[in-house]
Amino acid sequence: MKLKCAENVASIVPYPPGKPLEELEREYGITNSIKLASNENPWGPSPKATEAIEKTLQNLHRYPDGSSHYLTESLAAWHNCLASEIILGNGSNEIIEFLVKAFVTAGDEVITSHPSFLMYQKFVQVHGGDNIVIPLKDMSHDLDTIISAVTAKTKLIFLDNPNNPCATFISKERFENFIQQVPEEVIVVLDEAYVDFVEPEKRIDIEKYRQKREGLPAVVSLRTFSKAFGLAGLRVGYGLMHPDITSLLHRVRQPFNINLLAQSGATAALDDTEHYRLTLDNTSQERTWLMKEVEHLGCQAYPSCTNFFLIDVQGDATKLYESMLYKGVIVRSMKAYGYPDFIRITVGTEKENKRFVKALKDCLTELAYV
Ligand SMILES: Cc1ncc(COP(=O)(O)O)c(C=O)c1O
Repeated sequence: MKLKCAENVASIVPYPPGKPLEELEREYGITNSIKLASNENPWGPSPKATEAIEKTLQNLHRYPDGSSHYLTESLAAWHNCLASEIILGNGSNEIIEFLVKAFVTAGDEVITSHPSFLMYQKFVQVHGGDNIVIPLKDMSHDLDTIISAVTAKTKLIFLDNPNNPCATFISKERFENFIQQVPEEVIVVLDEAYVDFVEPEKRIDIEKYRQKREGLPAVVSLRTFSKAFGLAGLRVGYGLMHPDITSLLHRVRQPFNINLLAQSGATAALDDTEHYRLTLDNTSQERTWLMKEVEHLGCQAYPSCTNFFLIDVQGDATKLYESMLYKGVIVRSMKAYGYPDFIRITVGTEKENKRFVKALKDCLTELAYV
């Protein structure tokens, strides 16, 4: 066999896949581990969603509705927008790919920050574009440097807001000032995967930016059911944008990209405001408690407006990550992201958080970090 893979694809470092929990437990000889590593919803899926999915199981022999009509209509009502302003994806990941597929060809440039969500750069590489990567400044998007990096070749700018992994947030004023300086041919993509956790009055007014504004760039907002809605395993995300852009993205979309169970589960989850509210309230309450406890242990917890935050453990984060694993607590070392002394943790349930704090305390003592 002789494989002639495109050079841009051969040089991609695959997304770190992570092991199934059962494998990890076997490898480390642990049981009942808790995973606070992927910013998932620890309170589980909405019961209404699981009920709807069970009913839909009867219809698995049918293709799903290629237009995801009911889910799109429910989202249009939720966001008070037109159905034509919404496009659904197999996770918001897929909308990132639609954007790159539709707007980026060889030689085009896409601006991203480092660190930020890894998938932007991978899709750009797959489609032959050039990544222009701007380091965060004080853990936030460096909007001034991003502006100065824009060239005639720039097609897209990706801003995860809140940023993953730093959990920082661009204010409305900073964003408006930024937008005023971006050429109108560029598309600004606000990846708002975690925005549900942000206080509503602080959020960027996406409705305003969806409209065409004379001389200003288009703004796209990406959302997901994977975080606040607790449906990461179902793979549903969506983009909110001007219909001129959705109409282009539909051209690169597979006809049945949202499967049957995903459509019914996500539609039902949108109807379960009780579960959504409970998730937001619990996250805020537990995050406050966790941060206080972490600081008591002598570590620094970085401010967060969302369901995860960074902790400076004041020692090698990867060693601490390994020690925590042996205690059945899975967190994320930030070494690969350029913060060798930091871990990122997802806010868990009360029980999980207590277990995390106990494990952290023991590991810090064993490793003599604080
Ligand atoms: C900033 C950010 N954007 C997008 C995603 C992908 O979300 P989805 O599960 O909808 O593909 C993630 C997942 O962790 C994320 O952190």
